[in-house]
Amino acid sequence: MTVAHPKTVYLKDYQPPRFRIQQTKLHFTLREQFTEVKAVLQLERQPGSDERELRLHGQELQLQELRLDGRLLGEGEYELTEEELIVFSVPERFELSSVVHIEPHKNTALEGLYQSRGLYCTQCEAEGFRKITFYLDRPDVLSVFTTTIVAPAGDFPVLLSNGNKIESGTNADGTHYATWHDPFPKPAYLFALVAGKLSCVEDHFVTMSGRKVTLQIFVEDKDLDKCEHAMRSLKNAMKWDEEVYGREYDLDIFMIVAVDDFNMGAMENKGLNIFNTSCVLANPRTTTDLGFQRVEGVVAHEYFHNWSGNRVTCRDWFQLSLKEGFTVFRDSEFSADMGARIVKRVEDVQLLRTLQFAEDAGPMSHPVQPASFIEISNFYTLTVYEKGAEVVRMIHTLLGPELFRRGTDLYFERHDGQAVTIEDFVQAMVDVSGRDFSQFMNWYRQAGTPVVKAQDHYDAETRQYHLTLSQSCPSTPEATAEQKAPFHIPVAMGLLGEAGALRLQLAGQEVDDLPADNTHLVLELTEREQTFVFENVPEKPVPSLLRNFSAPVKLEYAYAPDDLLRIITTDDDGFCRWDAAQQLGIMAIQANQTDAAFKAQDLANAFKLVLDDASLDPALVALMLDLPSETYLGEQQAVVDVDGNYRARRAVQVQLAEALEGGLRDVYLRCQQALSPLGDSVEGKAIALRSLRNRALSYLTLLYKQEYRSWCERQFASSTNMTDVLAALTCAVQSQDPDIQPFRTRALQEFYDRWQHEPLVVNQWLSVQAADPGEGALARVKDLLQSPAFDIRNPNKVRSLIGVFATQNPRNFHAVDGEGYVFLADQILLLNQQNPQIAARLLTPLTKWRRFDAHRQHLMRDQLRRIARVSKLSKDVYEVVNKSLVE
Ligand code: TRP
Ligand code: ZN
Repeated sequence: MTVAHPKTVYLKDYQPPRFRIQQTKLHFTLREQFTEVKAVLQLERQPGSDERELRLHGQELQLQELRLDGRLLGEGEYELTEEELIVFSVPERFELSSVVHIEPHKNTALEGLYQSRGLYCTQCEAEGFRKITFYLDRPDVLSVFTTTIVAPAGDFPVLLSNGNKIESGTNADGTHYATWHDPFPKPAYLFALVAGKLSCVEDHFVTMSGRKVTLQIFVEDKDLDKCEHAMRSLKNAMKWDEEVYGREYDLDIFMIVAVDDFNMGAMENKGLNIFNTSCVLANPRTTTDLGFQRVEGVVAHEYFHNWSGNRVTCRDWFQLSLKEGFTVFRDSEFSADMGARIVKRVEDVQLLRTLQFAEDAGPMSHPVQPASFIEISNFYTLTVYEKGAEVVRMIHTLLGPELFRRGTDLYFERHDGQAVTIEDFVQAMVDVSGRDFSQFMNWYRQAGTPVVKAQDHYDAETRQYHLTLSQSCPSTPEATAEQKAPFHIPVAMGLLGEAGALRLQLAGQEVDDLPADNTHLVLELTEREQTFVFENVPEKPVPSLLRNFSAPVKLEYAYAPDDLLRIITTDDDGFCRWDAAQQLGIMAIQANQTDAAFKAQDLANAFKLVLDDASLDPALVALMLDLPSETYLGEQQAVVDVDGNYRARRAVQVQLAEALEGGLRDVYLRCQQALSPLGDSVEGKAIALRSLRNRALSYLTLLYKQEYRSWCERQFASSTNMTDVLAALTCAVQSQDPDIQPFRTRALQEFYDRWQHEPLVVNQWLSVQAADPGEGALARVKDLLQSPAFDIRNPNKVRSLIGVFATQNPRNFHAVDGEGYVFLADQILLLNQQNPQIAARLLTPLTKWRRFDAHRQHLMRDQLRRIARVSKLSKDVYEVVNKSLVE
């Protein structure tokens, strides 16, 4: 959809629907040149409304026939616009039936009904259903759907839709049909249809009330050996939701379909989830450990939506985080329970601090509950998902697990079958706890990342420790810093003495009332500045602050290197230990750039302690040894120092490798040995060992020694596990060792030859090369663009090659000649018409132009302006480009 001046939609303008749709009967006939969609809607005017005019959404639909209560409507009785069907006069209760033609094979936007490798599938969230038929395509209109699909039996043996199959049969003309009925009223965005040649893996789950639910995963025949992990994850998720939230599945069948062409990760359509193949298929031979974890998380996420999203849905799209923030919180807790809790937490924090914080500081910054949008697809963001999940986590922290659970019970019970708001969710929490969450709502309504400054003072005489916390929040498009009200911030903390955690006694508290092990506390910062006084503190402590990352804020406290060392060695909060290692890493990298006192050797000494600490989970060790990314380093700077960050980070890595060589060798060999009985297991222990071993290898290959080149070659050649194969390949590409080049060239070729028929593996191969920091990487990316490995119509390939180049290869993307920017803009313009959602997402790196030096700012804005000048911009691209060019 291209519009000259797309209009903005505001939350404050929300109006309840004027009509309800009691029943929706759909009849699809899939033909080669077009699909015929017949829709029979039972409509009813909302009580209290006297509206006579009916306005239905509809886009790119070829209307064949329109009837009201069986009577054919004539020209003067309705009007068709670009986006609506207006029927001028309708009674209080009536049946509207329409027949439209649509062209799924021409649908490259992957929204509505489209074809992926010959398979028909749908993606209706957020506003795709209006590309299928005329409808009230808004989440607060819930209807009972019955869907019949007719298609040639030979090419489309499998016909699926939501709910239960109630009828099927064959016709004389070689077609067959199936009718599905979904008894749960739902908004149109949860509708789904699939037709094609698919194979299926089947299992079942017995729910807590003893009902047997059939579980089916549909994939292409060649992928049948990659479904086991998704099935296991699904059953784990079903069990977990019963145990942790008391939520039982409600239909007799739950289906997952994997498709290759998909704009996002997956979609929670009622009873018929549709997944990007990258989020279902997993086999150790083709899939990395990270891939396995992603499958587990996304399968759980979509399953959890059955309650947080489907049974209780959103009133309007400004409430998107009601379902997404809550569901991400649910899936992250699930993943934490399934694997290593602290590793999951650190990964989530990394994502939030590098990418969400950057979003919150950029031109697209918006509150978790946005106040307006032009194109809703642009608001499926890290802020709505990840920050939204952190906001729910803070409620959980403030209430504790029992009260939080009573709150969710009340929420689900009170609003089952309804379309509600974020306020309704929080109200349930207020009602079970009696607490005041009015200030807390600022987290939903104000954008920007708050900064919390901590300052302290210890008085040996009085044995008092004063901790002063102050907060501020930078200006964002919707409000200036001065206009922002203070946030309600839970700051989890402890105090570390030389020999370990100190007992905490706040001024005014009686010692006798406190448990002996009172070493952990959640302070609530609600004012702009607050001082907390601790009594009977025996020594000057090191504060352990924002434990487990208790709030999505930037914490500033002037830690000395020795303070951080104490946290690394004695804190029992895993997040704070990891974060302390990151801070030391930043110090060492900055010292390399500025010649300050803290040197790589000091960092090496600290890392040595980490390497030798047998009490640490190897996966956490691997994370602690990983220096902050270039992107995160840039986040800490007023002006991103693109080349300096690469050079300094690399220099420190090399110095660490030199200083720790012996330890890293031991670790590599020790992990290798521990792994050999585990084979390709994807259990936590094996994953942890592989991550640590591969971290060691990545350091060792920076030493440019024959021995480590051969370790790398051997790992590449002898491993049957994709994590290890890809890690070796990545080392060869990343190391820049001139003597590893022959191996690199050969390995890339061998890898491609071996895996060219596995698209998901080829995508990883594209990504490794797209992230190559070496010279000439852009030219190679351009070559890859022309190769059979690439296809611009496939979003996974676009993300793997173009997306990774623009986001994970700062040195080449931000090359001073501006070629990286021109390249990205070229691709965005190609995609603008074809797939607006993907085009708009690709724009993100260019929108961050304010963060760079004047020269780069100029080059980046030139490309944004070049895009802005194009006359046929999609709404999606129009919104992002124009918001990012605002002075
Ligand atoms: N609701 C999906 C989720 O679980 C998100 C989603 C899938 C989506 N496909 C989409 C959003 C297409 C917008 C457009 O998170
Ligand atoms: Zn979701």
